[in-house]
Amino acid sequence: MNLHSVRPDRTSGPEFRTDAAVDRSLREAIEAAGRAPSMFRLEPWRWQLNSHQLELRADQTRQLTAVDPHGRMLTLGCGIALDHALVALAASGQWASVDRFPVDEPGLVARIVPSGTYEPTATDTRLLRAMTERRTDQHPFSSTPVPAGTIDRLRRMAESWGVYVTELDPECLVDFHVFTARAGELGQSQAAHQGEVAASTRRRIPLRALCPEGHDLLLPGPGEDGGARYLVLWSPGDDPASWLAAGEVTSSILLDATVAELDVSPMSDVVETPISRTLVHSLLGNRGYAHAVLRIGMPVADQPTPPAPRRAAEDLTPVDRGRC
Ligand SMILES: Cc1cc2nc3c(=O)[nH]c(=O)nc-3n(C[C@H](O)[C@H](O)[C@H](O)COP(=O)(O)O)c2cc1C
Repeated sequence: MNLHSVRPDRTSGPEFRTDAAVDRSLREAIEAAGRAPSMFRLEPWRWQLNSHQLELRADQTRQLTAVDPHGRMLTLGCGIALDHALVALAASGQWASVDRFPVDEPGLVARIVPSGTYEPTATDTRLLRAMTERRTDQHPFSSTPVPAGTIDRLRRMAESWGVYVTELDPECLVDFHVFTARAGELGQSQAAHQGEVAASTRRRIPLRALCPEGHDLLLPGPGEDGGARYLVLWSPGDDPASWLAAGEVTSSILLDATVAELDVSPMSDVVETPISRTLVHSLLGNRGYAHAVLRIGMPVADQPTPPAPRRAAEDLTPVDRGRC
């Protein structure tokens, strides 16, 4: 079996719990993972508690087949839920191994196998709390800079999952906002644009020319969003294991940033269409495959974002097979 540690930075402890106590921790983890964010709030995952182990599957009924035909965002969404569940388990002192895409059960995204226990750290507890405190902040960020060292810390964390973080050069940001505006349009009427997308990709149009005539680019105004940094998450591979890892890294960055009192706004629309993927690829210097862009910055104090609703935990778990 391809067993990995819970999160790359954790070590095991020796104590074992009763089956009932293990199941309780696993159910709490499912509930906590229900706070995981997802594109369009699709929550495209299903959990099953089975023989004192937790199984994670993608919910194919929630796949956006036009925008996400290969299941990249579907799998990335599962990665976010997986990391949330592992953070919750860590905070409960439950050690576990994770088998990602286990070969013995095709279709399973991950199996969480509980083992010993350990003493949760203050950071474990703080990360758990971050799940309920965190919001996607779509407001412009303050001009206060992101504290020095933050981006490097997030980059190192991502690399422990084999995912890379490249920060967009401020000089590219106008082009990037053009992509975002254009990608949003394409996402809304993708079928109608498919021919145009293919043609545009072949013609190597200058980036700014992609902006539709008269389109409001939503560029931040003077002094707005001044402290925002834009991080592209990418991997050398474009396969389910890379998409899942990108989701785990997304979760990990969102929670870490929340603890550091930073806000993050994930943007997947910029990598959803073939043309926007190609363009972000060009910003990466034509290496690797981009999974998402994270806009990170200091929030403006008087602009709180209310919590977004979630599906009920029962909707995320199929009928019990009676084996747990
Ligand atoms: C992987 C991912 C991609 C997202 N992409 C976009 C996006 O392209 N545009 C957008 O407005 N919001 C995007 N979001 C934000 C979601 O809409 C938001 O997470 C969801 O509504 C839940 O809200 P919350 O994060 O405040 O809990 C994305 C979120 C995730 C996790």
